[in-house]
Amino acid sequence: MSRIAYVNGRYLPFRDAKVHVEDRGYQFADAVYEVCEVRDGRLIDERRHIERLQRSLGELRIRMPMSPRALGVVLREVAARNRIGYGLVYLQISRGVARRDFAFPSPDVEPSLAVTARSLSIARNEALAAKGIAVITAPDNRWGRVDIKTVGLLPAVLARQGAIDHGAREAWFVDQDGKVTEGASANAWIVTAAGVVVTRHADHAILRGITRTVVLDVIKAQKLTVEERAFTLQEAYAAREAFVTSATQLAMPVVSIDGHTIGDGKPGPVVIALRQEFHRFAEAG
Ligand code: PDD
Repeated sequence: MSRIAYVNGRYLPFRDAKVHVEDRGYQFADAVYEVCEVRDGRLIDERRHIERLQRSLGELRIRMPMSPRALGVVLREVAARNRIGYGLVYLQISRGVARRDFAFPSPDVEPSLAVTARSLSIARNEALAAKGIAVITAPDNRWGRVDIKTVGLLPAVLARQGAIDHGAREAWFVDQDGKVTEGASANAWIVTAAGVVVTRHADHAILRGITRTVVLDVIKAQKLTVEERAFTLQEAYAAREAFVTSATQLAMPVVSIDGHTIGDGKPGPVVIALRQEFHRFAEAG
């Protein structure tokens, strides 16, 4: 089946799904995005993703190209036209097409909206979660507003490739104080020897993950102790468990960091339970 994308008002075969060479997303990474899980053909946590999208757009003074409700219709339509049972939808909104100039274009330039969807293998994801993943660390050299979900992802691209080059799957960024901020494309968590679940507080130094928000709800329901604070790399090496969260990985166990084995080198009970319970707390629509 050929893939379909939505680009600026039209559903197009993939080969025709193109943006202009002077799109500001292409020229300046002047664009934001969201990635939403699709499960059993339903969008997971659409409301929260669209709320975060509106916040990202607001911080950058980019107009929302259509109402949240209309956008929901497009997301669902792209998922349906691509017959996604399990997978993801990706949406990107840029400040639009204009002659290359650093300053904002005139306010009547329409933002660009593109939406794609892709199937993922649930079996492959679960097999990965059963084993756990390896992580390496890298200095956090991103800009100071990574709470805005922009497509300016070059440091994350380089960090992820660095991880792959070292036989790992994800990279954790470490700030100048030796504290972990987050993964290149996921939030970072540990469970201390005392059983406390720790993840960095959501300020400008991390993206406030939607999966992170839902996992915090699961943690509270399970009456686990949680601390939203920065943790050091040393604490991470000594942790009983570690994991990452993102829309496409859910809660994914981390079994090694920079070659240090975490716990007994297998996914631990806390992350396994969070992963199992996740969809009871997420919204499906
Ligand atoms: N990445 N932190 C960063 C830097 C991310 O890129 C992501 C998501 C997250 C987790 O956010 P959420 O739980 O809302 O997916 C945290 C997506 C999946 C991506 O870029 O593909």
